[in-house]
Amino acid sequence: MITMSFKQQIQPDCLPRHIAIIMDGNGRWAKRQGLARMFGHRQGVETVHTITEAAAELGIEYMTLYAFSLENWSRPKEEVDALMTLLVDTIVKETPTLMKNNVRLMTIGDLDLLPNATRAKFAACLEQTSSNTGLNLVLALSYSSRWELTQMARHLAQKVLQGQLTIEQISEQTISEHLTTAGIPDPDLLIRTSGELRISNFLLWQLAYAELYFTPCLWPDFTSEEFYHAIVDYQHRERRFGKTSEQIL
Ligand code: IPE
Ligand code: IPE
Ligand code: MG
Repeated sequence: MITMSFKQQIQPDCLPRHIAIIMDGNGRWAKRQGLARMFGHRQGVETVHTITEAAAELGIEYMTLYAFSLENWSRPKEEVDALMTLLVDTIVKETPTLMKNNVRLMTIGDLDLLPNATRAKFAACLEQTSSNTGLNLVLALSYSSRWELTQMARHLAQKVLQGQLTIEQISEQTISEHLTTAGIPDPDLLIRTSGELRISNFLLWQLAYAELYFTPCLWPDFTSEEFYHAIVDYQHRERRFGKTSEQIL
């Protein structure tokens, strides 16, 4: 029997509109080979390149990558500094590929905390790719969901105080519109690599009805075939949104 690759098993008419990924396991990947953690982060960038190309080629509309959490600022200073340098180098190096693949870059997170040089490079890339119409690649940088929800609460409270909004007008939609992901559909599929079974403060509101896919594979080892596997797995799920199975059919 000839086995089909996962790519061949993907049904193109029911792709997830939005895939969110917690890219985890770079440090362990490096440690396993007796290397410093940064080698893992560098290899992880190669995976970002591969998976972005795969997602763009498939016609995925949105992909959000958790690149650096607000909590990650508390890592050793040498690792944080090296990661910021790697981010800048990567964005400069990858912008032509984003242009070639018609990818629009977006960011979410507390970007004010980023070093000026990093922020400036991102701003340039956001601007350059802003008219691209293919995959929307959302990088979560200095991001925390609780931070985002707190900002949203403050923003809404201020609007009520200033008379621009009544309490009764606050709805689920108003809340979504005041998050950093405003205008972006909620993720359909969340992938986390490295075997950890947690959300780590990522998109808590937006993941309400996402299908979860966990793999022990470390992020630097994650291949496009693994990515297609996650999509095929997603396509075999029944998304009921609280209804019964009979109501869905
Ligand atoms: C994920 O890999 C990348 C970032 C959080 C920046 P880790 O650095 O968390 O790798 P592990 O979890 O220590 O293996
Ligand atoms: C989550 O990974 C954040 C990113 C992938 C950027 P962590 O490695 O920081 O998560 P925890 O600390 O294991 O929950
Ligand atoms: Mg980790």
